Amino acid sequence: HDENLFLDCFSMHPDNSSSISQVIYTKYSPSYSSVLSSSAQNLRFSTPNTPKPQVIITPLDVSQVQAAIKCSKKHGFQIRVRSGGHDFEGLSYVSQVPFVVIDLINLSKISVDAKQKTAWVQSGATLGQLYYRIADKSKNLGFPGGVCPTVGVGGHFSGGGYGIMLRKFGLAADNIVDAHLIDARGRLLDRKSMGEDLFWAIRGGGGASFGVVVAWKVRLVTVPSTVTLFTVIRTMKQNATKIVHEWQYIANKLHEGLFIDVVLIRANSTMVAAFTSLFLGGIDRLLPLMQESFPELGLKKEDCTEMSWIESAHTLAGFQKEEPVFQGKSDYVKQPIPESAFEGIYDRFAEEEGQSAVIALIPYGGKMNEISESEIPFPHRAGNIYKILYLVAWGEDGASQRYINWIRKLYGYTTPYVSNNPREAYLNYRDLDIGTNNHGYTSYKQASIWGKKYFKNNFDRLVHVKTTVDPHNFFRNEQSILPLPSRA
Ligand code: FDA
Repeated sequence: HDENLFLDCFSMHPDNSSSISQVIYTKYSPSYSSVLSSSAQNLRFSTPNTPKPQVIITPLDVSQVQAAIKCSKKHGFQIRVRSGGHDFEGLSYVSQVPFVVIDLINLSKISVDAKQKTAWVQSGATLGQLYYRIADKSKNLGFPGGVCPTVGVGGHFSGGGYGIMLRKFGLAADNIVDAHLIDARGRLLDRKSMGEDLFWAIRGGGGASFGVVVAWKVRLVTVPSTVTLFTVIRTMKQNATKIVHEWQYIANKLHEGLFIDVVLIRANSTMVAAFTSLFLGGIDRLLPLMQESFPELGLKKEDCTEMSWIESAHTLAGFQKEEPVFQGKSDYVKQPIPESAFEGIYDRFAEEEGQSAVIALIPYGGKMNEISESEIPFPHRAGNIYKILYLVAWGEDGASQRYINWIRKLYGYTTPYVSNNPREAYLNYRDLDIGTNNHGYTSYKQASIWGKKYFKNNFDRLVHVKTTVDPHNFFRNEQSILPLPSRA
């Protein structure tokens, strides 16, 4: 694992001669630390003891990604690919073995074709940049991705990616029509040359198991000129628990242009429920819909604001709190949870004063019910009322283990109320507690412990694709898809 050999190899690459000093950072480079931490979102993985990459490459063009792959392979370095750096477990910039980070920050070109309703977006772009470019071209086009504007397109699209329009348009990954990927042999492939199996795998199966996705072609969606946003907060005194309980019966059955999520949070020593909604239309249509399907919330006209789709993306971005140090987990709910269980959840929140913790309930239904479980690797479709995101955050100097134990206990508490066999989880809310690969050999059986939770039966097809395209398991991490051993 000699980094000098890697650097010699990389600099011998013909396209690199003029720009090499701009794209290579070693531990001796003055800006190494700032480049490394630039998009490391979870400071849980930015401690002095966290293993650091031998080299960081920030390619200016695709050929430099190819060179980085070839040279890493030749000189025995593992690769970690980073787009927006939002991985909950830091897998895009931390590894336990000698490794190189390919950071796609400079590959962030976006070209929107409003006529064809498509866009090519390079993986280093963020969601916010994509939404801005789309709205710049047309007020009636949008894209159904996540709400946090700094999330990277690379990890987000390849792990599924949902936002506040998922009930109408599905996931980001459901709206990908082509991609450019560099495989373990360093070849640049598009949808046609990679074939449908590999193209299927990178739309929800996690790109990092299969190569480096350098760009995506997405189908844009038509949004109305006016959408409506509301956030309504209900306290315990205002019957929050009853309303949340009731929400479970309608959340996935509402008009598909209406999305209402719930965030449970502790404020001033009591729990509150915040209901946030985007409706793809104006207030005049929203109010009767709410009256008919969810009168318990008591929505009033004054709670609602009409705006354009891009203004709604901007407003929702403002609600996002980027936590410095956090741990997250996810669950899927197929039967309404009893009120008493919500009370139990509140008791767990009360046990840990002083932390910042939330539970978000994300409604499914609508378009999510229409897409089959095997259409792309993301399997959580019909039959789910909602997804739960558990998140606990703490300050940089906080005692991590205490908070991690707390969220594990909460996750233990909800076991009887959520999906089981497997207990399903969302890949983009990465959680290494649900199982990992070993550093050395890992059996199919061991990998399926976490694999079936993220992908259900699609896990087997992912293993098949991996075995075909990366049989020597060059692209690997703690939760990457494993190839089956060769029979030879
Ligand atoms: P990052 O660069 O860390 O990559 C994540 C994983 O993908 C890593 O394994 C990485 O190696 C791999 N990868 C990245 N780029 C790749 C590429 N070009 N080719 C191959 N592999 C690549 N999710 C959601 O669905 N909806 C939401 O609203 C939000 N909101 C949100 C807010 C905040 C504050 C955080 C921290 C996270 C979210 N997420 C989310 C989760 C988010 O979708 C998830 O963390 C994504 O994987 C992040 O993608 P990045 O490119 O930013 O991460």
